[in-house]
Amino acid sequence: MSSDGALVLAIPKGRLLRQLTPKLVAAGVSRDALTEHDRRLQRSATLDGIPLRILLLKPDDVPTYVEYGAADVGVVGRDVLMERGSDLYVPMDLGIGRCSLVVAAMDGPALPRALGHVPRVATKYPRLATAYFAAQGVEVDVVYVQGSVETAPLVGLSEMIVDLVETGETLRQNGLVVRDVVCEVSAVVVANRVGMKLRRDEVSRILRALAP
Ligand code: PRP
Repeated sequence: MSSDGALVLAIPKGRLLRQLTPKLVAAGVSRDALTEHDRRLQRSATLDGIPLRILLLKPDDVPTYVEYGAADVGVVGRDVLMERGSDLYVPMDLGIGRCSLVVAAMDGPALPRALGHVPRVATKYPRLATAYFAAQGVEVDVVYVQGSVETAPLVGLSEMIVDLVETGETLRQNGLVVRDVVCEVSAVVVANRVGMKLRRDEVSRILRALAP
């Protein structure tokens, strides 16, 4: 909760914000509070008459702000939530930001490997990738990269990647194909467990406004 008592809503910048904006605007939030065209880190707004403080954050940071109570409610992809393993209340799937977390590799037959060779997997999701390959009983070396993951197989950093696919265009343009689907992903609302109890009525009204 903010010092002025406004409910704090943490929103990820980028693709999800663009998909969330029409819904928030329809619920009464001003477009000005949601623009990415300036460097204001906090914006004041109202949603369904509820005073809000909106934080536009890097997607990976949303669970941290909500888990520690710096934000009451947030919107985040399930990919980020699962990777972080944050202890948050997840009251609603928003049905937006739909994509898949996949294993991908260069198109064509796999090259023969030397005995004992452990393939490398480049990913922004080391925890999810490690769990996936462990469940398959496949030994891999997981290498963390922060973005442009599709570059890794092109330049020999890794044989495989674990990354999000939405339209498939990035894979296609880089000569990669999906080898397996790790899980489906969409955006969810997350709430701080204590904040959810203390501000149940306001959080419920926000959930109603964002409901698919
Ligand atoms: C995401 C994801 C893929 C791409 C998939 O990256 O990591 O690279 O989008 O989308 P597509 O299937 O529609 O092509 P993002 O654009 O967030 O940037 P990043 O590569 O820097 O992580």
